[in-house]
Amino acid sequence: MKIAMIACVGKNLELGLNNNLIWHLPLDLKYFKEVTNNHVVLMGKNTFKSLPGVLKNRHNIVLTRSINRDDIPREVEVFHSIDEFLKKYQDYDDVIFIIGGESIYKQFIDLADTLYLTEVDAESLADTYFPKFKKEEFRREVLESHEDSGIKYQFVKYRRK
Ligand SMILES: NC(=O)c1ccc[n+]([C@@H]2O[C@H](COP(=O)([O-])OP(=O)(O)OC[C@H]3O[C@@H](n4cnc5c(N)ncnc54)[C@H](OP(=O)(O)O)[C@@H]3O)[C@@H](O)[C@H]2O)c1
Repeated sequence: MKIAMIACVGKNLELGLNNNLIWHLPLDLKYFKEVTNNHVVLMGKNTFKSLPGVLKNRHNIVLTRSINRDDIPREVEVFHSIDEFLKKYQDYDDVIFIIGGESIYKQFIDLADTLYLTEVDAESLADTYFPKFKKEEFRREVLESHEDSGIKYQFVKYRRK
């Protein structure tokens, strides 16, 4: 199993506010869709609740400690602990994308080989942050640079050395 993470972050690693994204960048959403398409995506319960629904063309996994899953559609696979998830997926052949939010990125950062970060050149009020990680442990590659309504951002790939 290989773990990759994908997130859109501000200059201070801002991730979200009030269980929503901070910047609305249509091209970034398209990029997220392309990168994660046909893969397994794993997220925390709050992130799942922030989405309009199940992410199409991807196997959705949600982590929750709650036993009651009435508000989670049947096609979503649910685990109640990281151990339970790893037990099933440790021999999985393909990459698994960790798609947030803060609590999930924090718990998986040390397992991640690759980080796909959309780095927004702006700061914002936030209540959730991507974990600080040791940049010297990764090779950084800028894939694309864009600007939308005066907001500059780059698609950056970090690969663990
Ligand atoms: N900028 C981005 O790219 C990006 C991406 C994703 C999310 N976000 C933002 O991040 C924010 C949400 O982050 P968050 O930290 O509040 O929530 P989260 O990580 O999405 O979900 C947290 C929930 O996941 C469950 N959970 C966490 N660890 C677990 C474990 N080890 N075992 C079982 N269940 C576990 C718990 O659910 P229960 O409470 O049900 O037990 C916990 O309350 C939102 O603002 C969202 O928009 C931003």
